[in-house]
Amino acid sequence: MAGDRKLFIKTYGCQMNVYDSERMAEALGGKGYTLTDSPEGADMILLNTCHIREKAAEKVYSELGRFKGLKAANPDLKIGVAGCVAQAEGEEILRRQPMVDLVVGPQSYHRLPELETLARKGKRALDTDFPEEDKFEHLAVRPKAMRGPSAFLTVQEGCDKFCAFCVVPYTRGAEASRPVVRVLTEARDLVARGVAEITLLGQNVNAYHGEGPDGRDWGLARLVRALAEIEGLERIRYTTSHPNDMEDDLIAAHGDCAKLMPYLHLPVQSGSDRILKAMNRKHSAESYLRLVARIRAARPDLLLSGDFIVGFPGETEADFEDTLNLVRAVGYGQAYSFRYSPRPGTPAAERDQVDPDAASERLYRLQSLLGEQQQAAQAAMVGKTVGVLFEKPGRMSGQLAGKSDHLHAVHVEAASTYMGRIAQVQIVESAPNSLRGRLLG
Ligand code: SAH
Ligand code: SF4
Ligand code: F3S
Repeated sequence: MAGDRKLFIKTYGCQMNVYDSERMAEALGGKGYTLTDSPEGADMILLNTCHIREKAAEKVYSELGRFKGLKAANPDLKIGVAGCVAQAEGEEILRRQPMVDLVVGPQSYHRLPELETLARKGKRALDTDFPEEDKFEHLAVRPKAMRGPSAFLTVQEGCDKFCAFCVVPYTRGAEASRPVVRVLTEARDLVARGVAEITLLGQNVNAYHGEGPDGRDWGLARLVRALAEIEGLERIRYTTSHPNDMEDDLIAAHGDCAKLMPYLHLPVQSGSDRILKAMNRKHSAESYLRLVARIRAARPDLLLSGDFIVGFPGETEADFEDTLNLVRAVGYGQAYSFRYSPRPGTPAAERDQVDPDAASERLYRLQSLLGEQQQAAQAAMVGKTVGVLFEKPGRMSGQLAGKSDHLHAVHVEAASTYMGRIAQVQIVESAPNSLRGRLLG
């Protein structure tokens, strides 16, 4: 077995893909691969893809086109497609792109080493099953190298909610949670390797219901509290959460668990009840606002983030105004907004579409409002003292960059010995996408 093969992975889409890419790199590490940061000279290229919007999927095919020359120059180069496009269009990829050697869906990554062997033998390999076993349990253990201070840890996968616009239930399969003990073991291992902050990941992370050490079902709040007991783990976050899975004890944890950070991504998608119903969201604008009020009662300085879709089939100007009104009522710290993109196989793709120009104009208006709110939330931090976890060198020499408790990027003049540590910082200035702070003490 060759011991010095180079692996290039390009990751698209959500944070769960970022985590999966790390784990795939580790799995192939067992076969002699080390990561490289350019496709030139690589022995294997993996694209970890996203299918959430049309543009995301198109990128895969154009990216593959760019690798043609590399493949011609190096016939031993193997090209693989992983992630949600692989799951949705695996056969099609093999048909359209003869240069692709292997296709692996998000639930089959533990089979990657076998697929690699097949590809090396000149066979084209495809695995898009939804196997019963926990893919992470069958992946190689994380090697004990030190790593950055902030890490992702996937605890839940899949979605049973079937929002009318979304491909995730089809590409990631049904909701499944990893057992508590496995999550705690992985978290302790990360902390031993220098990690101070863990972001728990799941397509619906607060739908987490894992088997506890007592054999009972544990919800996310209980998991968070158990993680908070780990010495050296300073910060806990989780994403993405669904409004309908915000249980009472999780809301309470935001008030009484000091390690749970005051930031929450809680997508609502629309402020119109008519559209929410058509989206199959199973909550109303009003119930979302009540929920936000309860969370803020538990943690008043919590910063909220969200996702919005404009131009969903049937959306009128009045529906869109309802979305703007909801945004005004909530006041987001930051948010993501998208023009509706019809996805093959989802119910909404079959419906009458909104005029694209109207949708673009709405997106512009929504993004202007959300941008103003982001600036206001940043300006409100000036003068305040926050914890900052330093993660990397700053833009200027003598500076470090890190994330505040509220997930703002903060630049601070600090010695490199602060790297990987949390320090108290006073915010002195707000720039367009970051804050500047002064080290205290
Ligand atoms: N599981 C998360 C979100 C997954 S996808 C949740 O339930 O909130 C991330 C975001 O992409 C969604 O919140 C939605 O705003 C957006 N999105 C999903 N499908 C989309 C589509 N077909 N068109 C446009 N945006 C979409
Ligand atoms: Fe998609 Fe809705 Fe599931 Fe989120 S809750 S992953 S938007 S189907
Ligand atoms: Fe994209 Fe799949 Fe994540 S579609 S957003 S990579 S779950």
